[in-house]
Amino acid sequence: MTATKGLEGIVAATSSISSIEDGVLAYRGINIDDLAEHASFEEVAYLLWYGALPTQSELDHLQQLFSEYATIPSEVIDQLRLYPKDTNTMAALRTGVSALALYDETAEDISHESTQDKAIKLQAQLPTLIAAFDRIRKGLEPVAPRKGLSLAANFLYMISGEEPDPVAVKALDQALVLHADHELNASTFSARVTVATLSDIYSGVTSAIGTLKGPLHGGANEAVMKMLSEIGTLDKTEDYIQQKLDNKDKIMGFGHRVYKNGDPRAKHLQHMSNQLSELKGNSTLYDMSVKIESIVTGQKGLKPNVDFYSASVYTLLGIERDLFTPIFAISRLSGWSAHIIEQLDNNRIIRPRAEYTGLYNQKYIPIEQR
Ligand code: ACO
Repeated sequence: MTATKGLEGIVAATSSISSIEDGVLAYRGINIDDLAEHASFEEVAYLLWYGALPTQSELDHLQQLFSEYATIPSEVIDQLRLYPKDTNTMAALRTGVSALALYDETAEDISHESTQDKAIKLQAQLPTLIAAFDRIRKGLEPVAPRKGLSLAANFLYMISGEEPDPVAVKALDQALVLHADHELNASTFSARVTVATLSDIYSGVTSAIGTLKGPLHGGANEAVMKMLSEIGTLDKTEDYIQQKLDNKDKIMGFGHRVYKNGDPRAKHLQHMSNQLSELKGNSTLYDMSVKIESIVTGQKGLKPNVDFYSASVYTLLGIERDLFTPIFAISRLSGWSAHIIEQLDNNRIIRPRAEYTGLYNQKYIPIEQR
């Protein structure tokens, strides 16, 4: 038995949800470029869950369910008030999702219908949970979700308590479309491994949130913004990046296990970042990002991934850095839950082997002789 480090190149599941072939990402066979241009996040969530784009009445029904389900139990809000105010937002989200399970009497039901229903419910509740924690940690009261708003608009409304700007809503919605699913990425794999033991969707999503949190995965968008803030100005960019490269440090937001010729989502985020910079009349972050890209791609051949330009996009939308990865989670929940349903529909426990590299034939030594 020989292990492949990081499971590179290992095909570990069959799936009909999303594909990456020849550098093209498609959800249910529809190119991400097409979806990024035309689809709303709600349409994409429906597509991932049900395998086809919704009709108008199906979409209306899903939006109605999102509105109905968006409120979170008051017990969970009370718990959010007890979390340390400076705790990591992904840690708060991980605990919060786990807490939601305790107040859902259907939590243990892993049937297809109930899991699908809980996927919709969780999708509606996640933005409310994140926005509530964000306000509580700032000493503000949570803002209740408002009926009739899209998921992106409702999130922006609940964090600010103000009427969301249509430009920000459109940009966030497009970012949610781009992050919704990505084949067998690390967090989706975690979710599938968890429910493959016949555990429930809340457990699967909690595992996935813990996996997304790391800076080699979803946490990279926050790490990119931290780097941009540390650099500060365009004239300091070159020296900073050169030093990192000379030190053999990783530049966050670059590289990808699967895409070696560029992440197809990155160009959309770059375009959004450019447009928002022009709109806001401040191109510092965008210009710094372009400079970093030219150095890193020029010297290492590494291309930006989905997380690189999303950092400047979210900042230009006025969103705080430590909400970036939770926003990724809001979007990716649609993919996680589609994969959880697919796994449970055709389940077998996921239990690979390890290549043993330890000692053999060791004897037990009594404690007094050690
Ligand atoms: N900066 C500098 N060098 C890099 C980078 C980077 N961002 N990414 C890869 N490399 C180098 C590695 O050091 C390695 O060089 P070596 O062969 O000389 O040792 C080589 O490229 C291969 O990289 P690996 O880390 O082995 O590639 P792997 O497929 O295991 O990892 C990953 C992919 C985790 C995305 C990696 O490129 C990385 O750490 N990037 C930065 C973090 C990041 O942006 N993560 C988000 C990914 S997208 C997402 O999950 C949403």
